[in-house]
Amino acid sequence: MKCSHFFDFLISHAKIYGFIFPSSEIYGGLNAVYDYGPHGVELKNNIKEFWWKSMTQLHENIVGVDSSILMHSDVWRASGHIDEFNELLIDNKDSKKRYRPEILIQEYVEKNFSNDPKKKEKILSRLHQSLKKKDWIDLKTLIDELSICDPICKTKNWTKIRHFNMMFRIKNKKDLFLRPETAQGIFSNFQNIIKSTRMKIPFGIAQIGKSFRNEIFARKFIFRMREFEQMEMQFFILPEEEIKWYEYWKKIRLKWHLELNLGYREHYKLCNHNHLAHYASAGSDIEFHFPFGFQEIEGIHSRRDFDLKNHEFFSKKKLRVFESFFESERNYIPYVIETSLGLDRLFLAILSSSLKKEKLKNDKTRVVLKLPYHLSPIKAAILPLVKKDGLPEIAKKIFNDIRIHHRLVYDQKATIGKLYRRQDAIGTPFCFTVDYDTIETDTVTMRNRDSMEQKRIHIKEISQIIEKETGLKKVLKKLSYFI
Ligand code: GAP
Repeated sequence: MKCSHFFDFLISHAKIYGFIFPSSEIYGGLNAVYDYGPHGVELKNNIKEFWWKSMTQLHENIVGVDSSILMHSDVWRASGHIDEFNELLIDNKDSKKRYRPEILIQEYVEKNFSNDPKKKEKILSRLHQSLKKKDWIDLKTLIDELSICDPICKTKNWTKIRHFNMMFRIKNKKDLFLRPETAQGIFSNFQNIIKSTRMKIPFGIAQIGKSFRNEIFARKFIFRMREFEQMEMQFFILPEEEIKWYEYWKKIRLKWHLELNLGYREHYKLCNHNHLAHYASAGSDIEFHFPFGFQEIEGIHSRRDFDLKNHEFFSKKKLRVFESFFESERNYIPYVIETSLGLDRLFLAILSSSLKKEKLKNDKTRVVLKLPYHLSPIKAAILPLVKKDGLPEIAKKIFNDIRIHHRLVYDQKATIGKLYRRQDAIGTPFCFTVDYDTIETDTVTMRNRDSMEQKRIHIKEISQIIEKETGLKKVLKKLSYFI
């Protein structure tokens, strides 16, 4: 299937099977904002639990926090977001469309000079230089020299390049912003957390929460949204150990992604940032091969003492650690290594690598979502073969007996073949079917989603099998070996 067809298929599958809906759809929708449906929210919660436990349960020196979305406006002055959290913009006066100049140039070069690496390199290096020097005039000159046209109306009637701050300001509350990253809630609680937990350097603070960015170029479904969720962890260290921890977290985070088993190792890349965010002194991206190519899924940054130092200055409160080793004492602002993962991007990576159309032996096709078992929204379905002769009652009893332990469904709304297809489409790893033999032998048919193999097992084994195969424990145990 062509990539664009696959992506349309994925968006439609996500809607039909209750994973993702366009926000406010009955009013025509809202650009770049999405809602998670009944299966989407289960999958999302499972991803969060996996990340949260990997961070806070497997690392004894990482604790959590859940800070507010609205914060004092000085937080954003200190963090540099009011002055520096900008994107570049250029408009075409004819099409009235808005573009990011650096993307216009990159796409143009990719399209026209992919067979001329020297020329391509020369233009890209000039682009990087202009961005580095913040020379917007040269960037505009480059667009003019290359005669780049608007991809829609094909004219070169461009405006000047200008800045655009990406934070959402709350109307009528001039000084309030919706947070564009969760990290600042961690920095501003630094002293509270040290005092309440007695954590010692090195230690980390993890947080999962919503962030908001006024993305004018939002596109690609849930890849780039205006409201999204981040799973961030700030790791506070001795300044002289910056490189050691930066390398450590790059390695650990990549391994964590690989443990998800979303496909081949080649589907991941670890790349150095070309353009660092205003707070970072070093940065790497973990990129994933999405249906539209390699793109960032997680950022690992060294923020050094940028944030705590600025918060000290603006708040006039000491944000330091005090340590004494035998005779010597030390009072310092720790450095920070940050890991920042986009929950929605990970969701998209999981969905896109799991969704398959498979040809069956009987020449029919099936759509199956081969999600990692521990992330599946529903772990098992309990189904009666037919809706009569006491089979639904037995199936319902099994369901009621074990549903407090697992996320299950009971379904008798269609024929067994259709029930299996539905469970395949939402990624349920196992179906347990009650049939006439169950009445005699207390056994059921267990069907595996991926192999479609069926075998008979005793009713008493069902709960144990679900726990063993779909529980988080197995994956966490594997992860714990390399932490
Ligand atoms: N605290 C650091 C920080 O926010 P970032 O690279 O701007 O760094 C981190 O964002 C991650 O958040 C990205 O790797 C991406 O997964 C996710 N993210 C950023 N902007 C997003 C958006 N508009 N929609 C969805 N996810 C986004």
